[in-house]
Amino acid sequence: MAHVNFNNVSKHYVQGDRVVQALLNCSLNIESGEFVSLLGPSGTGKTTFIGLLAGFERPDQGRVTVNGVEIVKPGPDRAVVFQAPTLFPWQNALDNVAQGLRASQLTRSERRARAAEQLGEVGLGHALDRLPHQMSGGMQQRVGIARALVMEPKVLLMDEPFAALDAYVRSEAQKLIVTLWLRRRVTTLFVTHSIEEALFLSTRIVIMAKGGITQDIAVPFEFPRDPTDAEFNNLRRTIHDRIGAGVETERKAGTLPSAKLKN
Ligand SMILES: Nc1ncnc2c1ncn2[C@@H]1O[C@H](COP(=O)(O)OP(=O)(O)OP(=O)(O)O)[C@@H](O)[C@H]1O
Ligand SMILES: [Mg+2]
Repeated sequence: MAHVNFNNVSKHYVQGDRVVQALLNCSLNIESGEFVSLLGPSGTGKTTFIGLLAGFERPDQGRVTVNGVEIVKPGPDRAVVFQAPTLFPWQNALDNVAQGLRASQLTRSERRARAAEQLGEVGLGHALDRLPHQMSGGMQQRVGIARALVMEPKVLLMDEPFAALDAYVRSEAQKLIVTLWLRRRVTTLFVTHSIEEALFLSTRIVIMAKGGITQDIAVPFEFPRDPTDAEFNNLRRTIHDRIGAGVETERKAGTLPSAKLKN
């Protein structure tokens, strides 16, 4: 289990002669076993959060820690699932999933057995020998999820993993994520543009506007959730309005809103 902390983190990027402040003084505390979604418009620093926790990037200022240990580079304790599945096109599903275990102490047959078991858990037990081009986008994304989970990460990072899927496949993928999370309670940071997706999956929703966090909302519903439920829809409307209000504040102030501190 893992506890994640972003403490007063800032990160800028240079774009030609422009400086973009992707995150400014952002703090976010994620308790062990939470499922937190980052929700917000494009360009508000959601992927930057993922990149810092994954260790792909370093903050300009502040600290990112997992169980108190500062993140300075990528590691097998943090697995990432991207929007586009990044599978090796020449390897079948089984080999793609087993690949990550090569650095482990397991023998080749143990690695393959673990990979097969993990693919079974994401509903692909019948497709172990399929190459990526022989699978639908939804299946490929499940291979991506299996590849992340087979590492038994302490933290699971997902950056809009279902954005490219059609509505039905996406809804099935969301149900799978809930099932897997209920089983393992891996600490998860999930990025999405969809309020409904965030409400269906998360224990907490963190709303982003330019430069950082504007709202932090605990989701009070049990799992599995019903998107047609009245309470669900009330909260969806509230969040929709709050995102709108955040964008409005930004426009009026003409500056970055200061990030709300939690802990
Ligand atoms: N490597 C980079 N080089 C230059 N600018 C960057 C880089 N990465 C991000 N940015 C800028 O930082 C800001 C935040 O980007 P980020 O990718 O974190 O946003 P996001 O919330 O994930 O957006 P989206 O919803 O479109 O994926 C944006 O203005 C973006 O253009
Ligand atoms: Mg992004």
